[in-house]
Formats: sequence, structure tokens, C-alpha cells
Amino acid sequence: MDIFIPPKNISRICCIGAGYVGGPTMAVIADNCPEITVTVVDINKDRIESWNSENLKQLPVYEPGLENIIEKTRGKNLFFSTNVHEEIGLADIIFLCVNTPTKINGFGAGKASDLRWIEICAKEISTHAKGSTIIVEKSTVPVKTAEILKDILNTRLDEKSFTVLSNPEFLAEGSAINDLQNPDRVLIGGEDEASIEILSNIYTKWVDKPKIIKTNVWSSELSKLSANAFLAQRISSINSISAICEKTGANIQEVSKSIGSDNRVGHKFLKSGPGFGGSCFQKDLLSLIYLCEFYNLPEVSKYWEGVIQINNWQKKRISRLILEKLFGTLNGKKIAILGFAFKANTNDTRESPSICVCKDLIEEGAELYIHDPKVKATQIDKELTDEQYKKNESKRWHFCENIDLALQDCSAALIMTEWEEYTKIDWSEKEGLMLKPSWLFDARLVANINNLKKTNINYWRLGNKIIANKGTNY
Ligand code: NAD
Ligand code: UGA
Repeated sequence: MDIFIPPKNISRICCIGAGYVGGPTMAVIADNCPEITVTVVDINKDRIESWNSENLKQLPVYEPGLENIIEKTRGKNLFFSTNVHEEIGLADIIFLCVNTPTKINGFGAGKASDLRWIEICAKEISTHAKGSTIIVEKSTVPVKTAEILKDILNTRLDEKSFTVLSNPEFLAEGSAINDLQNPDRVLIGGEDEASIEILSNIYTKWVDKPKIIKTNVWSSELSKLSANAFLAQRISSINSISAICEKTGANIQEVSKSIGSDNRVGHKFLKSGPGFGGSCFQKDLLSLIYLCEFYNLPEVSKYWEGVIQINNWQKKRISRLILEKLFGTLNGKKIAILGFAFKANTNDTRESPSICVCKDLIEEGAELYIHDPKVKATQIDKELTDEQYKKNESKRWHFCENIDLALQDCSAALIMTEWEEYTKIDWSEKEGLMLKPSWLFDARLVANINNLKKTNINYWRLGNKIIANKGTNY
């Protein structure tokens, strides 16, 4: 279908996928566009029930500021529903916010994106949509996915027409609401100018016009993958330097500050840590790597592979260091894990560096006592109980509601997430709970050093040479 006549009036938006992106993004659109009815649909009944829960603490996604917006908009012009077909039929614009994880089987397994959910949506839209509909790719997808969507959508030759726009999302978890309300840019890629204008007019209700970047579809799709690759690359770069700091006596925070003070580099995304986690950096890097291989660009794919390799190495070296400092054996030793989310201010654990480190420590015989202010025990169970760990006789990790329970009788504590409450721990008060000699391994550089100086706790801080106990130099 060559000519697309966009809908005259935009009164209904349907978003397929009520996850970390779909829920918050649609809440912000509904809040800023009271004249539009926004319905978020999902096949996951439990998720929709949670979004509809009276108790706002039960929302499936934890994001600062989200509860307020949901309270204002839900039931007015924001709805959550499992009626996927019906809502598709009513919509003028359909956002695709479904998952696009890495393929686990078949060709491209371990690298290529699994587009099965995108394909299912396209088929459902081609069957149930009515009239002319604007389809917006918000999920992160490999370059050329819009082509696949168009092919599927245009198989129906009855009275319907579609145009596909790429409008990738750049929100980060933990700051999603602020990122959505004050985005650095909104990217819209497409061919049909009138439809681009319609989408752009929705955003300009709260975003300044100059922030809206209009490109061709392929630039938009590739920009999203590349943006995540660049951010991940900065983290691997600073993490690689953290290891040199530990060997030489340089201090990673001082080095990071010095590098970032150059305006051309900037300070953001130069915090050294236990490696990047989250559902997207690794998946999107892998997708980019696969694309390079597909287009026969082996040098480029190797370059980006290095970013993942350093990330995996960073996690492993933390596990190895703990083993080494605890005299080469963790058998029967209790270790407190402070933080399981992949970063602070989210309940998301996908690809969290904690998962990898916890599995290593369990493998070495440790007994883990895990605390996290927002992650639920059931979620930790899902992450740690894979095939390899199911075979274990008894579960070797326990969830602790408070920090003291985790620290009680532990040989070591490990800070894996930079939750604010961990920055405030008074270690002189906690020392008595821990066994002697005790260790604090700080993979996020958040523990209060002055406070630790008052204790006999041995302290390892990522990216610092000093592994200190009382009397040695911090
Ligand atoms: P998610 O897994 O939290 O949510 C996806 C939802 O889609 C799930 O609830 C699933 O049940 C639903 N779904 C799948 N197929 C469906 C279908 N056919 N019909 C109805 N519902 C269906 O994923 P997410 O974190 O929200 O990410 C979604 C996309 O956005 C991904 O492509 C991701 O790369 C991208 N993205 C994510 C973030 C982030 O911070 N999480 C940020 C930017 C972009
Ligand atoms: C990231 C990007 O920041 C978003 O722009 C993008 O939209 C999103 O991925 C996506 O496509 O899913 P997110 O993964 O939610 O967002 O969170 P980030 O703040 O980017 O953190 C990712 C990981 O990097 C975390 O584990 C974090 O602790 C780590 N990180 C981040 C560091 O180790 N150092 C830093 O300086 C920054």
C-alpha cells in the first residue's frame, strides 16, 4: 500500500506491552494529553491486574513518581486491559512496547534479537485493526525491523492501511518518569510526513519542538542500538581503568572526575561499578554485534564484543577477589549481599551483576543472606534457581527483610547496588554483628569511609589500591 491517509482525529492510543516501558510511557502520555484515551494491553493477566490494583504499592513497576501519575490518570483517560483485539480495533495509533530479548535457540542464538513478539503483534494488528492506523515501534529492534512489520501488515488487502514509525525509547529505569517528562530528545523515524507530524504533535504537548529529531526509519532504529552501545562502552572503559587503579594506587573516583571534567567527555556514565546490568545494554550490544556479522563487518563486531567481555570480566573478578580475601574458601561462610536490583531505585533484576556474583559465591560453598529494599524474594528465587542451581540439595540463599539480619554472623558483606540506605550504614554500629575478621567489599563505592575508619572491618573498595584493615591506609 503506497498511499497512507492518516487518521483525521487522534482520540485513542493503544499500547501493546504493559512492562517497564509501556506502563510508564503511556502514563506520561495520558497525563499530558487528557483528550486522548490511552489503553495499555497485555497478554499477561497478572501484570494487568497489578496495574489495576487499588493499592498503588502493588504496581508491577517501581519508579519514583509513577504512583502519582497513575493516581491522576487511571480510570480517567488511562486504562489497563487484556482485551488486546478489541483495543487494537479502536486505536488510531498503536505503540509496540513488547519485549525483544536475545534469541536463545536456532540461528543467531545468543546474539540476534528474538522478534517473535513483534511478529505476533503485527499479525494481530493486521487482523484486528480498522481503517488507517499509525504503528509506532517503541521496542528496541534491529535495523530493518520496520520492513518486516510493513510486510506483515500489508498482507491484508481489505479496507485498512498502515504506516510504521520508529520512535525508540531512551528512558532509564529508576528515573523513567523524569526521563519521559524531560527527555533529552524524542526520535521519530519514518517515511510518511503527515504521520510523523501527528506523533510529534503528541510529544510537543510537553516537549520543546527542537528536541524532536526526525530521521529516516533506519537511522532511528540504528540510533537506539548505538546509543545503548555507546553508554555501555563508557562503563566498560571506566571499569577497565578501575582494575589498573587497584594495581597502581590511583583512585578511580579521582581518575573519573579528571577524565569527565573535559567537556568533550563529560561526567555522566563514568561511575565504576560491578558491571552494567539491566535488560537492555547486553541485549542491544549483542544485537548490534549480530548485525555487524550479518553485514560482514567482523572488525566492527569484535570492537563491540570487547565491551561485553570487560563487563563479564568485571563481575568475575569481584567473585574471585572475595574468594581470595576469605582465605581461598567460602565453604559454609555466611556472606551478606546488599542489593540485588541492577541499579538503585528499581525493582528490576534483569541481568543484574548480583546474579552472576551470587551464583559464583554459592558455587564456592557460601551461604548468602540477601537484602534489597525493593526486590521481592520470589524474584531473587527466579534469578538464582536456574537448572544448575535446582540440583542443589538445599537452597543456599536467604532473603532478609532488614540489613541487620543479613549482617548477623557474616564473614563478609558485599555492596552490589547503590541504594541510598547503604550509604548511610553506620559500620561502627554493625561491626559487632559480623564475625572477626570481617570484610566489607564495596563494588559501588558508597560506604562511608570515615565511618569505616573507626572499625576493624577490612575494607575493599572497587578501583582503589588499598585493601585496608585498621591501621593501614584507607
Ligand atoms: P517487559 O518485558 O517489561 O514488557 C513487555 C510486555 O509485553 C510484557 O508484559 C509481555 O507480556 C507483553 N507482551 C509480549 N507480547 C505480547 C503480545 N503479543 N500481546 C500483548 N502483550 C504482549 O519489557 P520492557 O522492559 O518494557 O521493554 C520493552 C521494549 O522496550 C524492549 O524492546 C526493550 O528493549 C525496550 N526498552 C526498554 C527499556 C527499559 O528500561 N526497560 C528502555 C528503553 C527501551
Ligand atoms: C539504559 C539507558 O541508560 C537508557 O537510555 C535506555 O533507554 C535503556 O538502557 C534501555 O534501552 O533499556 P537502564 O538500563 O534502565 O537504561 O539503566 P542505566 O542507568 O543505563 O544503567 C545500566 C547499568 O549500568 C546499571 O547496572 C548501572 O548500575 C550501570 N552503570 C550506569 C554504571 O555501572 N556506571 C554508570 O556510570 C552508569
